[in-house]
Amino acid sequence: MVGKHREVSAETAEVLRSLRGVWDEEAVDELDHALLAAGYAAARHPGDDELVVAALLHDVAHSPLLAASGQPHDQVARDWLTPRFGPRVGWLAGAHVAAKRHLAQVDQAYADALSETSVRSLARQGGVAPVGPEWTRHPWWDAALELRRCDDAAKDPNAPVPELHWAIEVVDRLVGVPR
Ligand SMILES: [Fe+2]
Repeated sequence: MVGKHREVSAETAEVLRSLRGVWDEEAVDELDHALLAAGYAAARHPGDDELVVAALLHDVAHSPLLAASGQPHDQVARDWLTPRFGPRVGWLAGAHVAAKRHLAQVDQAYADALSETSVRSLARQGGVAPVGPEWTRHPWWDAALELRRCDDAAKDPNAPVPELHWAIEVVDRLVGVPR
């Protein structure tokens, strides 16, 4: 199995590198956004490598290496991550839009603090509306809300960005590549 795990690790590193210079109208590019989100997840939940990897790759759909499927980017993330890292990682990344819609509804301070880009995408994603119990009663929902808060924090161009090799170490640990 180690061979397959090495493949996942190498592919993940390649996909992450492809996010350098990809911009989504925020103040950091997609690679820095990914690394910052993962760093916050690791700081808030040390030991939860699944949450860290979900945060790292929640916007993987923006990679030019992934063929455009026409699917919403949260679903692309879920479908890309689940076979590589398991159902929890895929589910958490796939919940990051639902988590935003939920937080914007229940927490006015959260809604007020969203970036302009995030407000625009929220409108496209169905706006501020209750999300169903299939989300909010899910045992992983609290972790999905945590991922979302890390995602929203990961847009500061002045924040120190974790190194890519640190993120790959977490990926390796999660998939079981011996070091
Ligand atoms: Fe994001």
